[in-house]
Amino acid sequence: MDIMKNTILITTPKGLAPFLAEEVKALGFPVNWTGITGVETEGCYNDTYTLNLHLRTAHHVLYLIKYFKCDSPDDLYKNVNLIPWETMLSPDEVLCVVSHVEHPSIRDSRFANLKCKDAIVDRIARKKGRRPDSGPERTCAVVNLFWKGDACRVYIDTSGESLSKRGYRKIPMDAPMQETLAAAVIMASGWKDTENFINPMCGSGTLAIEAALIGINKAPGLMRNNYGFMHTMLFNSEVWTDIRKKAIAAIRRPIPSEVIATDISMDAIDAARQNAENAGVKDCIKFSTCDFTETTIPDSSGIVVINPEYGLRLGNVEELETVYGGIGSFYKHHCQGYRGYVFTGNTKLVGKVGLKSKRRIPFYSGQIECRLYEYELFQGRQQERSQI
Ligand SMILES: C[S@@+](CC[C@H](N)C(=O)[O-])C[C@H]1O[C@@H](n2cnc3c(N)ncnc32)[C@H](O)[C@@H]1O
Repeated sequence: MDIMKNTILITTPKGLAPFLAEEVKALGFPVNWTGITGVETEGCYNDTYTLNLHLRTAHHVLYLIKYFKCDSPDDLYKNVNLIPWETMLSPDEVLCVVSHVEHPSIRDSRFANLKCKDAIVDRIARKKGRRPDSGPERTCAVVNLFWKGDACRVYIDTSGESLSKRGYRKIPMDAPMQETLAAAVIMASGWKDTENFINPMCGSGTLAIEAALIGINKAPGLMRNNYGFMHTMLFNSEVWTDIRKKAIAAIRRPIPSEVIATDISMDAIDAARQNAENAGVKDCIKFSTCDFTETTIPDSSGIVVINPEYGLRLGNVEELETVYGGIGSFYKHHCQGYRGYVFTGNTKLVGKVGLKSKRRIPFYSGQIECRLYEYELFQGRQQERSQI
């Protein structure tokens, strides 16, 4: 087995793969395949450190260990047991096996996990005289099994816990947007750090915090200190320290534009401020507690992004119709010269905004189909022409 250059599969939620592919390319890696929930690239084990540290829209960076044909649980055990795990996993490490299995011989994927785990620990016990412990937490060495039809792939999950857990959002508040989704929404808007970023209804502050992180060029992975890749014998701590130091040196402050986050709830603003402090970007964001219509919109240009409640999980639909109507009027009267965005999972409510959207970008928030609506908010008379 070549532990140097291998296939690396990077997973992401539905809807984010095009943004992930762009990020992978921008980091200088080839994109060999793009699917609905992942992007395939290639690289050596050490390259997974860079991907884990810098990617804003990835969830798991999976380093391929072996591909084989597999038609039964016994086949699985035999093939996994042939992998030289003793060169990769210490018996002192804790092992977690996770899987996605679609094969008629497996009714419960936990059985496949168990077979795979037994094959690994039996091999290590045979070679080293001791077997590693195993458990369900992804804070240790994580092996990911993807078995579909007769094709089976075994990966090391170099991320461990999902990269969407950046570590800064200690206070999530109601209906927070996942960090990776917020980053993709910002990428979809085409926001540049020379433009103002205004986020009324900021809730826990995810959108403003992700914008500030992008604005200061801070790698999202700098806020985490535990990754799956650290728990294997392939880990090179000197290379990791060097990659991390370079990422710290690449941070540039201040952001040349304004990032403003407001919410009607004082608790939300307190939480957002605390989350921003955890992310190291509190000084980059101006927070205030107010109704969204009172948000200060500085002269010049930029984007205004609003993620209102959409009545599926929170809020009352009739009240929300008034809120969405208010967003349209706020955009029309106070945000001229900006681009306005509404991120929502409710296509009926968004009609109440009453402005013609220029683009509708599809996303998912969990299982809920959502859209990012873009409104061009022209100055003066052009604004009137943009209405429906
Ligand atoms: C869906 S949450 C936003 C979640 C946010 N994107 C996050 O990641 O945490 C909607 C937010 O809008 C706020 N809100 C509701 N009505 C408001 C109003 N009239 N003016 C300002 N904020 C409002 C709520 O307090 C809530 O925090």
